[in-house]
Amino acid sequence: MKVSVVTLFPELFTEFLEASILGRARREGRIEVELVQLRDYATDRHRSCDDQPYGGGPGMVLSPEPLARALDALDARNRWTVYLTPSGRLLDQRLVEECVERHSLVLIAGRYEGIDQRIVDLYVDDEVSIGDYVLSGGEVPAMVLIEAMSRLVSGVIRDESLQEESFVAGMVEYPHYTRPEEFAGMRVPDVLLSGHHAQIGRWRRAQSIAKTRQMRPELLDGIVDATEGDTER
Ligand code: ADE
Repeated sequence: MKVSVVTLFPELFTEFLEASILGRARREGRIEVELVQLRDYATDRHRSCDDQPYGGGPGMVLSPEPLARALDALDARNRWTVYLTPSGRLLDQRLVEECVERHSLVLIAGRYEGIDQRIVDLYVDDEVSIGDYVLSGGEVPAMVLIEAMSRLVSGVIRDESLQEESFVAGMVEYPHYTRPEEFAGMRVPDVLLSGHHAQIGRWRRAQSIAKTRQMRPELLDGIVDATEGDTER
């Protein structure tokens, strides 16, 4: 898959793109990430990309002209174009899957108060937020989306791991333990040492449900009732 990112801060992405699973996926050619410096599309002496908002108010707005030139150079009208903004739809695993199915994406990382609405009207297919808090720009949200998408690209993660993740989809994960068997006076739960896969599976599912009930009760509406008959709250 190919992802192009329009940003004023491409340098924020460089180490992120090299490291770990995503770095390997890029080196293997499974995912290509192109960084586009918005300033390269400014035409004035100061290479300015922002201006004051019409109607007054605090902050600056990213100007339409440089952004439109950058997006035209990326053929954004013929690709799935996502604007990262706190006003967007909340990102979840389902939305990540939808993005991966597009194969070719353009991400716009906004800064300041945001981008001119006419760019949204002309180029943007979806507006996505990574959570109900305000960051200084869309770069970290773009990285979040890229990393989540890269895991779903074929060959990046073992199928078994993805199946394990989808097994607990919609719930938070069960607790994990590794060696040693005893640490700070606390032992690894016996069931995990038993080698009994069915029991381990049941224990993990029960732990997932208990932890979800504690941390994210709203996620349980529907799923547990349907699969387990486990309705008590
Ligand atoms: N830009 C600033 N904050 C953001 C958020 N929470 N999600 C997406 N883009 C953003």
